Amino acid sequence: MKQSEAPLLRVEGLTKRYGAGCERCETAEAVPGGESENRCPVCGTVWACRNIRFHLYPGEILGVVGESGSGKSTLVKCLYFDEDVTAGRMTIAGYKDGEANLFAEFAQQKRYIRNHVMGMVYQNPHLGLRMNVSSSGNIAEKLIAADHFHVGAIRERASDLLQRVEIPLSRMDEPPRNFSGGMQQRVQISKALANNPPLLLLDEVTTGLDLSVQAKVLDLIRTIQRDLRVGMIVVSHDLGVIRMLADRTMVMRRGAIVEHGLTDQILEDPQHPYTQLLVHSLL
Ligand SMILES: Nc1ncnc2c1ncn2[C@@H]1O[C@H](COP(=O)(O)OP(=O)(O)OP(=O)(O)O)[C@@H](O)[C@H]1O
Ligand SMILES: [Mg+2]
Ligand SMILES: [Zn+2]
Repeated sequence: MKQSEAPLLRVEGLTKRYGAGCERCETAEAVPGGESENRCPVCGTVWACRNIRFHLYPGEILGVVGESGSGKSTLVKCLYFDEDVTAGRMTIAGYKDGEANLFAEFAQQKRYIRNHVMGMVYQNPHLGLRMNVSSSGNIAEKLIAADHFHVGAIRERASDLLQRVEIPLSRMDEPPRNFSGGMQQRVQISKALANNPPLLLLDEVTTGLDLSVQAKVLDLIRTIQRDLRVGMIVVSHDLGVIRMLADRTMVMRRGAIVEHGLTDQILEDPQHPYTQLLVHSLL
């Protein structure tokens, strides 16, 4: 499939710890202790992500699945610079020839990357939207951040985007606070797509939505992938969502990737005991 192309995104050695670390937990292969998730029993440091490595190809959907606390949100927050990594390297095609380590860039460059190269959809729409600003205004904000200043063009782009996610144009000037959870997620998706980023990060985008609404949002994500060929990282604790969307999947546990491969293969023949448990609970 797409693997013959150069990767869109390369991530290597991504590590994020909360706490100072100690001799015991920094040198161990895995965090000792075990019983209490990913917390070092000696110094109390939480190793939220540890030595994460993957590639994402253009237009591909990569799923990230794992139990609560396994580090999924931390991973996407690091990719979007909401959190500073402890260590690691990330490069993206189309920015400085795909050679620069984005984690080491200055804040201004990181802002540029967030506004031009990436879009983020948060689990909690309050983090991604200004609830009291109109939906069109939310999109305008993102466009202005990427140096679009023509009012007419901004308005047209906002209405295009909102139509794409099926928000009626009669409501484009209403603030998201007036909307249902599913509508808010759709506004968030349109905002994240405003500057045509080649990479979209989606964290638990359907969690907490009604099944019927969930199906519509999942449908929308598939349509976007097909029409716009956006590469996506889709985080979910729900293997059903991953099965519907992801070409390849990484399984996380206690901050580490325990399994990584084609989604179909992982579902049919899970290798790691933890993945087996996940898959069986889906059946
Ligand atoms: N600011 C923080 N300070 C300390 N520990 C944190 C912080 N943020 C996250 N953690 C810890 O990092 C680990 C990973 O959390 P994270 O939110 O990434 O998990 P998750 O896989 O997204 O879980 P969920 O499915 O519940 O959303 C958890 O042990 C969490 O307690
Ligand atoms: Mg999370
Ligand atoms: Zn320690």
